[in-house]
Amino acid sequence: MLSINLTGKIAFIAGIGDDQGYGWAIAKALANAGATILIGTWTPMMKIFTTALENGKFDESRQLIDGSLMQIAKIYPLDAAFDSPEDVPTDILENKRYKDVIGYTIAEVAATVAKDYGKIDILVHSLANGPEVHKSLLETSRRGYLAAISASAYSFISLLKHFGPNMNSGGATLSLTYLASEKAIPGYGGGMSSAKAALESDTRTLAWEAGRKWNIRVNTISAGALRSRAAKAIGFIDDMINYSTANAPITKDLEACEIGNAAAFLLSPLAIAITGTLVYVDNGMHCMGIAMDSPAFKK
Ligand SMILES: NC(=O)c1ccc[n+]([C@@H]2O[C@H](COP(=O)([O-])OP(=O)(O)OC[C@H]3O[C@@H](n4cnc5c(N)ncnc54)[C@H](O)[C@@H]3O)[C@@H](O)[C@H]2O)c1
Repeated sequence: MLSINLTGKIAFIAGIGDDQGYGWAIAKALANAGATILIGTWTPMMKIFTTALENGKFDESRQLIDGSLMQIAKIYPLDAAFDSPEDVPTDILENKRYKDVIGYTIAEVAATVAKDYGKIDILVHSLANGPEVHKSLLETSRRGYLAAISASAYSFISLLKHFGPNMNSGGATLSLTYLASEKAIPGYGGGMSSAKAALESDTRTLAWEAGRKWNIRVNTISAGALRSRAAKAIGFIDDMINYSTANAPITKDLEACEIGNAAAFLLSPLAIAITGTLVYVDNGMHCMGIAMDSPAFKK
């Protein structure tokens, strides 16, 4: 029987702060396939996430196919907006959620993972942040726009740059993107649409560079709407989900585990010849050119 077997592989998933998002679903799919799971959690979320995990809040969603609970080998505090300690501004250093934490910049986390586990096989970027996401692009400040690109797109380049030398040949990486990169989606503001466009373009260039340099694959999944913590913060996620149900070729709810399963395939040796690619996992929403529930079609 054809199966995804990641036994003996080590995966680092950046961007898990609870059990509601795509990062968690991807970690779970990889764990179901036998991989060792390491997590990078945004520094200000670290305490909240680890406490909830320790208190059993996620036990139900930690259940794997074989009935055991997903084991997370280690959780690293990570702020993917900073490459090295010199980049961290004083206000962040002194912030109450950061001041007692050390080693959360990308270079430091990559070095600690290498020290703890040696070479890894899988790197997942499941994070995004746009401080002005509620503003239209026309209202977005330069600062807000650059912050969105920095945290949501450059962060992938930096993760690959720092983890790449410590990945086994044949390894694979993945990021998560969204349709707003290629079609106008009013409300997905603050330069987040631009950040996703950058992330997708970088997928192709980095596939070439990381392929030739380390024999590592680079792909991205364009995921449909999910009620994650990040998506709820944008504010119209329920409308997006309803819109998809009304207009996508497949009308069922999109489950996070479906993105997890597609990710496990792309990150496994089954996808050994797939790199530089964007894969839509969105019930087919991306292929529609018209909204079937538009009043224009109501006779
Ligand atoms: N939810 C959706 O509808 C949807 C659709 C398409 C793509 N995506 C993408 O999926 C990915 C995961 O998002 P999600 O919706 O599952 O939400 P999520 O809230 O589960 O994940 C986003 C994570 O990013 C973390 N983060 C924010 N800034 C960070 C930083 N500077 N350093 C490190 N971590 C940081 C947050 O703490 C959070 O854990 C994102 O790239 C998002 O754009 C989401």
